[in-house]
Amino acid sequence: MVVKQTNTEELRGHETVDEIRKGPKFRPVLHALTSNPGVEMMNYAEGKKDMITLGQGEGDSPTPDFICDATYQAMQDGLTTYGPTLGQWPLRETLSQYYKNIYELDIPERRIFVTSSGSTAMHLSLASLLDKGDEVVAITPIWKNLIGAIELTQAENVQVSLDFDKEQGWSLDLDKLFGAVTPKTKVILVVTPSNPTGWSATKEEMKAILDFARERNIWVLSDEVYGRIVYDSDHKNMRADSFLDVAQDDDLLLVVNSFSKSWAMTGWRLGWIVGPKIAEDKIRDVALYNNLCPPTFTQYGAIAALNEGEDFLKSQVDLWRSNRDILVDRFKSSGNVDMSYPQATFYGFFKVHGQDDCKLMTKRFIDEAGVLLAPGCAFGATAKGYIRMCFAVSERRLVEALDRMDVVLQNS
Ligand SMILES: Cc1ncc(COP(=O)(O)O)c(C=O)c1O
Repeated sequence: MVVKQTNTEELRGHETVDEIRKGPKFRPVLHALTSNPGVEMMNYAEGKKDMITLGQGEGDSPTPDFICDATYQAMQDGLTTYGPTLGQWPLRETLSQYYKNIYELDIPERRIFVTSSGSTAMHLSLASLLDKGDEVVAITPIWKNLIGAIELTQAENVQVSLDFDKEQGWSLDLDKLFGAVTPKTKVILVVTPSNPTGWSATKEEMKAILDFARERNIWVLSDEVYGRIVYDSDHKNMRADSFLDVAQDDDLLLVVNSFSKSWAMTGWRLGWIVGPKIAEDKIRDVALYNNLCPPTFTQYGAIAALNEGEDFLKSQVDLWRSNRDILVDRFKSSGNVDMSYPQATFYGFFKVHGQDDCKLMTKRFIDEAGVLLAPGCAFGATAKGYIRMCFAVSERRLVEALDRMDVVLQNS
């Protein structure tokens, strides 16, 4: 299914056209942002007692001490001032070395741009590429914030859904993806591994997408923030395939990444982009006027994460793999839930048989089970009926949530 969602299709629930006309004069695009059912459900659950919160995309471990210690040290060393717009050179160099060590790729530091989060990396990328009237062809289901980020640029988002099959899980139909590209298309957006489905593009698919984009001179924007959260890997180190594995150095490719998920650093707000040489000046221009530079001392914590973080990451992924198996077994034995076996990320994306209203189901899990999940309709027009559950918590917490959820599953 291909859905073209224009920015003016849907007004947010609390604003009528009259209210907008009379109200303060914000940019029209802010009135036209599509609604965010995930936030709606968080608001619905707010204040309710004894809630298990599995609706957001983060683990429940604190940032490890060795990362915090390196950050305190940087503060004590006086690294508390503005820094270079595209990041501290020691971090850019460490990222280059990280690509050598973990990805066996040679990415010079000048092609690596440090940003104030993966979200910012995405905004800077989109802001440097898109104008009103341009189109972004995005593979969905997709994290809602990326759709919001496109809407803010006033470009149109064209959503191409992965297909779901009970046996095979989620898969990409390349013909459908390429068929959605028009002369207005400026960017093909891929999230691999995908939040929320756990689907990952194969190397062959990545190569086909890059070849197609190269012929038409359009950009590929790949969000790879879950690239290290994989449960199976053909590579020397546990990691997903990356567009960088199959790209040429000067391809119109921007790969977005983040420190948030792999090293328990969601609150730190640090990410990076890998791009072609020609992007360095342009991303710098946008970043300069956006935030001047990423925070200085936290970048030294990020260096510690890259240099010393492999054991921590492995312990996290081991826990999440075991949680993933518990979740899959429980849903299988419930008999009325469809969910693919996530090979990556820390999300279960499931559908209860016969229940197509994901907001209603999410409310039932809140009210009847005391478990907050994310409604699937937050992940694009084609994900109706699905629900996303983050399993990056302790086994005890996960099992408690699943026990509570049984009430709803048995009565659906
Ligand atoms: C696909 C995807 N990209 C980016 C992010 C955000 O990363 P950051 O915390 O660095 O902004 C998320 C967070 O959930 C995500 O799921």
